[in-house]
Amino acid sequence: MNKSQMNNLYARSVQLDDGLIAPYGGELVQAYVPAQLRPGLVERLPTLPRLQISAAELFDLEMIASGAHSPLNGFMTQACYASVLAQTRLPGGRPWGLPLTLAVTHAAKLTLTVGHEAALYYGADPVGVIQVDDIFAWDAPAEARALWGNAGMQQTRIAQRVAQQAAYLVGGPVAFLAARASNLLRHKHQWPRDVRAQVVEHGWQQVAVPNLKFPWRRTDEHLLKNALDTSDALLLHVPVDEESTPHSIPQPLLLSASRLLIENYFPIERVMENPVSAELFAATPRAELQHAILSQNYGASQFFMPQATSASVPEVLELFADAAHHGLAIHPVMMPAAFHCEACSGVATEKSCPHAAGQRVFISDVDIYAKLRSGDPLPPSVTRPDIARALARGVSMALDGNSGMPGGRNIHPHATEVSSELRQSLSGHKASVLWMTGLSGSGKSTIAHRLERELLLSGHNVFVLDGDTLRHGLNKDLGFSEEARRENLRRAGEVARVMLEAGMIVIASFISPFRAERDMVRQICGAKFFEVYVEASLEDCETRDPKGLYKRARAGLIPQFTGISSPYEAPVDPQLRLDTTRQSLDECINQSMNFMMEAGLLRVSRAAVKRSA
Ligand code: ADX
Repeated sequence: MNKSQMNNLYARSVQLDDGLIAPYGGELVQAYVPAQLRPGLVERLPTLPRLQISAAELFDLEMIASGAHSPLNGFMTQACYASVLAQTRLPGGRPWGLPLTLAVTHAAKLTLTVGHEAALYYGADPVGVIQVDDIFAWDAPAEARALWGNAGMQQTRIAQRVAQQAAYLVGGPVAFLAARASNLLRHKHQWPRDVRAQVVEHGWQQVAVPNLKFPWRRTDEHLLKNALDTSDALLLHVPVDEESTPHSIPQPLLLSASRLLIENYFPIERVMENPVSAELFAATPRAELQHAILSQNYGASQFFMPQATSASVPEVLELFADAAHHGLAIHPVMMPAAFHCEACSGVATEKSCPHAAGQRVFISDVDIYAKLRSGDPLPPSVTRPDIARALARGVSMALDGNSGMPGGRNIHPHATEVSSELRQSLSGHKASVLWMTGLSGSGKSTIAHRLERELLLSGHNVFVLDGDTLRHGLNKDLGFSEEARRENLRRAGEVARVMLEAGMIVIASFISPFRAERDMVRQICGAKFFEVYVEASLEDCETRDPKGLYKRARAGLIPQFTGISSPYEAPVDPQLRLDTTRQSLDECINQSMNFMMEAGLLRVSRAAVKRSA
């Protein structure tokens, strides 16, 4: 490989013209292997020394490749690392908070040569290459002290590396090979360009990043709402791979709780989410600066820091002011500590609340966790009741899981409450039940199946629930007595409800001859139930007699046959009436689609949203 090809392989700077805040250092520095160079590199990989990297390093590698750490183009060399540790700056003088390094064991170091490349592997997957510029000894205690203070050796990343016997750091530019490490690490990772494109597409000007790890409390909500009120959208950074401590609410539960807050109390179309390394949330000026730099690279223009968890406010602001001279353009907003005030009966801050300190309620995280563990409900001053319930359920499951009960081990509780709003926003339509009632042969099933096809092809989650089908399986123990029909419809109603909860449009096709039973199903399904009367005269149905049942019923071979030997109670005031005696199938389908459109049950196309906006 000649020199110019080699240069192509490594980092490329891109001058963005998206009109948003420029990346730190002015350009987005991406470092992935371009598609046309991939086959050549893959062929060359087996000839290179092979370096195994950890999940956290793979995460960092993709972040570098994506431009999230612009202007860095690789893992830090000794000069860079030393400068960041000693002066909180990159060698050129630009402020920088946290090192970005690749650690190796003594044995791995022996396979590497300075000035040559090495292939980076995550398990069996080749994920990139590094141009090894230097290899230097890792002084873990020195790094721990400089970055995290006295307890630094317990910091997750440092502790992990010590456990893996890392002894050296390898510096140099990288080129990322995997399409998306997200697939390997199971994170839904968007690159700065993706996020920026989304911002531009929506016509947003200001995007705010809150420096909050898992927002779920009322006070967090207060900060988020403030941030959203002064911007166009929020970019929520979610920490990855942070280990839970035994004395705090498990991280997956907090993540679920914060998602619940966003889904139920925020306009989710204005909230973006992306994973970041957990250390960015540490309460140190270095971490706060680093988080702000990363946010700027994603196109965010405001960085909201809660003063309560900020390291030292003057120190942080001084660091930001210094960085502002070197290209940090994101605007830092220091939010005063928030609390619940009884007299205000809501969240307030020192700045906005005139009441005495005695009115203010502070509950520490330790107390919150103690309450949850003992089964006490969290007061509404701490968090919203639905979030409190989800956390309480999750904690109690976690406790059961640890109690040594069979199967209790390895249970990873999630307070999974996916709101119907979330499902709806993903599918683009509401869930509903169209309950078709009518005589046998009136055309219910024919309409149901054609409508299902129409809806499916226009992007709806839809399914037909049909009496004849259910009677072959779930309801095969039931006949046609009044009692059996009642049970038939009760079960059908319950199934429809489950499908509703799954976000579907259910087209139910049952004779359902009695009003009382249809009312029962309406009760089961709630407000999303729509009664559709598929109307045809008994004469017509008997003439059509598609299954030959009327003939047999008239001959006395089928007892309690609806319309012949058992009554049919027509709906009094159905939401939709389809007259199959007078209308063609196409007309019935059109009428149904129009009804659904007017009732707001259909997907709104992007174009239609834009038009109405
Ligand atoms: S319902 O009355 O309980 O709602 P459902 O819609 O599930 O009835 O099933 C009706 C189907 O069962 C008819 O389409 C027909 O094929 C079959 N069937 C068999 N016996 C009867 C009967 N006595 N009355 C009505 N339908 C019957």
